[in-house]
Amino acid sequence: MNQQITPESTGVEKKLRILSGIQPSGTPTLGNYIGAMRNWKLLADEYDCLYMIADLHSITVRQDPSKLRQQSIQLFALLLAIGLDPEKNVLFFQSHVPQHTQLSWVLNCFTYMGEMSRMTQFKDKSAKHSDNINCGLFTYPVLMASDILLYQANLVPVGADQTQHLEICRDIATRFNGIYGNVFTVPEGYYPKFGARVMSLQDPARKMSKSDPDDCFISMLDSADNIRRKIKRAVTDSDAEIRFDPENKPGVSNLLAIQSALTGDSLDSVVSSYEGKGYGVLKSTLTDVIINTLSPIQNEFNRYMNDRAYLENVWRNGADHASYLANKTLSKVMKKVGFIAK
Ligand code: TRP
Repeated sequence: MNQQITPESTGVEKKLRILSGIQPSGTPTLGNYIGAMRNWKLLADEYDCLYMIADLHSITVRQDPSKLRQQSIQLFALLLAIGLDPEKNVLFFQSHVPQHTQLSWVLNCFTYMGEMSRMTQFKDKSAKHSDNINCGLFTYPVLMASDILLYQANLVPVGADQTQHLEICRDIATRFNGIYGNVFTVPEGYYPKFGARVMSLQDPARKMSKSDPDDCFISMLDSADNIRRKIKRAVTDSDAEIRFDPENKPGVSNLLAIQSALTGDSLDSVVSSYEGKGYGVLKSTLTDVIINTLSPIQNEFNRYMNDRAYLENVWRNGADHASYLANKTLSKVMKKVGFIAK
């Protein structure tokens, strides 16, 4: 038998493929780390993984170019710093792989205005940036669908805020396949086993977000002093009992959940470790846990940031690999819709 050796056929059995993306808009928070990024590392052996910095998506709201550049490089270095091995994962910048925008144009012609105007994120973002409701913001989910469909991804790890976009991606793929035959794999959402939802430190009814004021979140690059200060100021409540009860004690429960997520200890055992103790002990213990988690990542981060040549090498290889895979899908699509081969 003549087996062709290609970058994606090195395993005996074909693994399921995972693709996810993260926007370079600010430094990721502890919430992004717990809810998304750290799970990515656990998937590398079982799946064929591609992770992309979604820089094209980030200009749907106005960005300062030098900040965008800085944040993009930092985010790339952070992916390596959390332990994503570039030999096992394809790590790349979306803007380095032109097939994303090419496929996006085609898929725009298979997506309806009505579908896009129903997207809750579009409604939210256009309310927030009412001076800049641009067409890119409107068709953002089509670009995201292109990111996923280009690689024939089977599974897409996404947070709750992206499930509607994943649903529309499935609709677009199914519609296209219905017209042209089986061109795209219709992807499923991937919901990690260890996904705790981390809430704001000041308003624990809301998700921790980097667009909130600084003391609401912990950034992955916060100094130990900042972490200590922010946890100290985190909202609790006036009855001094430490128990997990998100409804009545959202602030304390959030702190307990963070500790459980970072240590891997069950919530029950975290709670019982505080029997007879007060909020002060909870806060100082949790502060140590967070610092112990983030400081090795920050050391690695600094090492990568000081080795620009290495970073460039990794992102170029990532772009080449991604582009090779993307081209296969794109050329099929171009042929199917009736474009002339070059
Ligand atoms: N839109 C996603 C977010 O803001 C990022 C993203 C872009 C993405 N393309 C993707 C996520 C493809 C998953 C798959 O979080």
